[in-house]
This record gives sequence, structure tokens and C-alpha cells, in this order.
Amino acid sequence: MMRSLNDMIALDDFSIAADRVLPRLVRDYINGGVEDEHALERNLSAFAEALLIPRYLVHASKPCTQVQLWNQTYAWPFGIAPMGLQGFARPGMELMLARAAHDAKIPFVLSGAGTSTVEQVAEIAGPCTWFQLYVARDRNVSADLVRRASDAGIQVLVLTVDAPVHSKRERDWRNGFGPAPRLGLHIILDMLLHVRWLVRQLHHGLPTFANWAPYAPSQNRAVVNRFFTQQIPFTQTWDDVRWLRDLWPGKLVIKGILHPDDAIHAFECQADGIIVSNHGGRVLDAAPSALHQLSLIRQEVGPEPVLMLDGGIRRGSDVLKACQAGANFVWMGRPALHAAAAFGLPGAYRVIAILEEEIRLCMAQCGWQNMLGTP
Ligand SMILES: Cc1cc2nc3c(=O)[nH]c(=O)nc-3n(C[C@H](O)[C@H](O)[C@H](O)COP(=O)(O)O)c2cc1C
Repeated sequence: MMRSLNDMIALDDFSIAADRVLPRLVRDYINGGVEDEHALERNLSAFAEALLIPRYLVHASKPCTQVQLWNQTYAWPFGIAPMGLQGFARPGMELMLARAAHDAKIPFVLSGAGTSTVEQVAEIAGPCTWFQLYVARDRNVSADLVRRASDAGIQVLVLTVDAPVHSKRERDWRNGFGPAPRLGLHIILDMLLHVRWLVRQLHHGLPTFANWAPYAPSQNRAVVNRFFTQQIPFTQTWDDVRWLRDLWPGKLVIKGILHPDDAIHAFECQADGIIVSNHGGRVLDAAPSALHQLSLIRQEVGPEPVLMLDGGIRRGSDVLKACQAGANFVWMGRPALHAAAAFGLPGAYRVIAILEEEIRLCMAQCGWQNMLGTP
């Protein structure tokens, strides 16, 4: 029976621990994928099937794990991916993950659908804060969000482009948490039975899309949440990318690219990097795995452009496999949420520490001296 933080040995352990503390509605929101969840599974099986061929008899006992992205050096080749509505799992979760990321010298991406503000997170994580934007129907709102990110000192903006419509996440729909929310009695009862979660939520008040509050007709949570769902999802085009490029003075990263031609187009539009991703299997069930597409895209764009990946990172060896396929950097998604949901800030520190340790061990085992795989 795994209960305490000390029992957490692998990233997947946090998933079991989070299942214990979260009501079904929240668990399914985090863990679920679109439709039959094939894309979600594909991310995991792509990593399981990829192999690393070790080089022995080399001096790699103290490998260098640092990665330089543009003008920033990070201690590890991974960060924490943008994930919305974190306060629904645990109030203040974004602030916990941001703190842990900052202390580990890795980036934390605040979701545009986050429950903490860009100003709050930037104050905690400083230059480790990245901000993810969903372009709103009303461009003035997007422009002001961009201004706020810049004023808060953020240097990297991530534009997510792979969610033009509501995706059919059937776990959510069955729980009454779909496009027209209507919670059934069994879901409400299940929430009431998760007492610690419930007390925290009642104490802090239900979470809201914090960054959007200034633009909503009133500060009432329900009004802010409705305003958000009226603005997003919204079908963007390359014009929006160019518009944002002109507006945003810092580094611009496009997230959710899978097609090599789109990768080329993103760099033609002066993006500074892309995140190859199928959104953790949450948007298109027929989508290929991020790992598979990353190698194709690297072949297409050549060695220079900054390519990142997310989707299915569960082991240190997955990080090396992604780097071997051509990634400069990767992002951890669900395990970070599971860890902070189950254990709060100590869980956030621990999930990062486990991944670090596995990367270190795997590099030493494979004879890698650095993240380029140099023996
Ligand atoms: C609960 C949840 C919420 C998410 N919300 C966002 C979001 O607001 N913006 C975004 O760009 N991606 C979002 N994602 C996708 C993640 O950024 C990332 O692509 C994905 O989780 C990586 O897969 P992994 O969970 O297998 O590591 C979300 C993912 C999850 C699990």
C-alpha cells in the first residue's frame, strides 16, 4: 500500500496516489484523453518501443544535464507543461509547481486556462516562468494578456494551436463536465466523499480562469468562467501567429505542431521554437505520437531550430529517447499534476527529483556526457 511521499519511486506512483485523493470528476479531467484514448496510449507506447544503445568504457560518471535554450540555461532538459484548471485538483497548485520548478532551475509554463495569474506565478518563478496563450475571439483580450506577461518579466510565450474546437473527451462528458456541464448525483456524492479535497475547495472557493477575470463583465466566478468559454476555443490561422509575432518582443514558441510542413511554416513566421505535441492525447485520437513526429520534423528542419516535445514522458530514459530523436527539450505533463495533487509542494519537489535522478542514472548507463548524447 503506497501512501507516503517516501513510497514514491517512479512517476507513475503519483498517479495511483492522486487517484486516492481526487474525486472522479477531477481524476478523469486530468487522466483522460479524447474519444478512445488511442493517441494518449500511442505517446506511451512510442516511448516504450524506442530503444537506447549504450556506449560503455567511456568517462560519463558526471554527465552535464544542463541545456541552453536561447539566452537561458536550465539545469535539466525538461520543464513542466502548461495544464489548465490546476486549482481544481488542489488550490494554489500552479504556485507550488512554479516554486518547485524555479528551485530546480527548470521552466514552468503557466496555462492560459490557469487558476493563478501570470503576475502571481512570475513573482515566484521569475525567469523560469513561461506563459501559454490561447488566442481569444477578442484580440484586445489576447493583446492585453501579452502585455501583462511582458510587464511581469516573462521572456517566453507559448502559443497553443492544436485546440481549435472542444474535443470529445468522453470521460468528462460522461461525468457531466463536457461543453454543457450538468453534474449527476453520483458525481456530486463522489465529491462529498473526498473530504480533504472538498474542504480545501470550500476553504479557497471554487477555482476560476484567473487571468481572464479583468476582461469579464463581472468578477463573479461563474461569469468569468462563462466569459472564458465564450472566448475559447477559437479557430486561429497563421495570421494570428504573425500578429502575435509582431506584438510579442520575447521568444515565441508554437505548441501543438505535428506536421513537418507546419513546423517549417512556424519557423518561417519567425517562431523561436516549437513544441511537437498531440496535447497529451486530448484533442485528436487519430494523431500520431509526439515522439514519432519529432524525428520526422527534425529530419525536415535540420539541426538548428529549437524543437521540444511533450506527451508520454514518464521516465528519465524517455527524456534521453526524445533527445536522441532530435529534441532540445521536453515537457512533463500529468505526473506533475498527480504529484502536487497528492502531496502538495513536497510532491512537486519529489516528482522533479525522481525524473532528475533517472536522467542522471540513464546518462551514466548509456555513456552520455551531455544531452546531445556525446560519449
Ligand atoms: C489536465 C490537463 C490540462 C491541460 N491543459 C492545457 C492547457 O491549458 N494548454 C495547453 O497548451 N496544453 C494543455 N494540456 C496539454 C499539456 O500541456 C501537455 O501537452 C500534455 O499534458 C503532455 O502529455 P503528458 O501529460 O502525457 O505528459 C493539458 C493537459 C492536461 C493533462
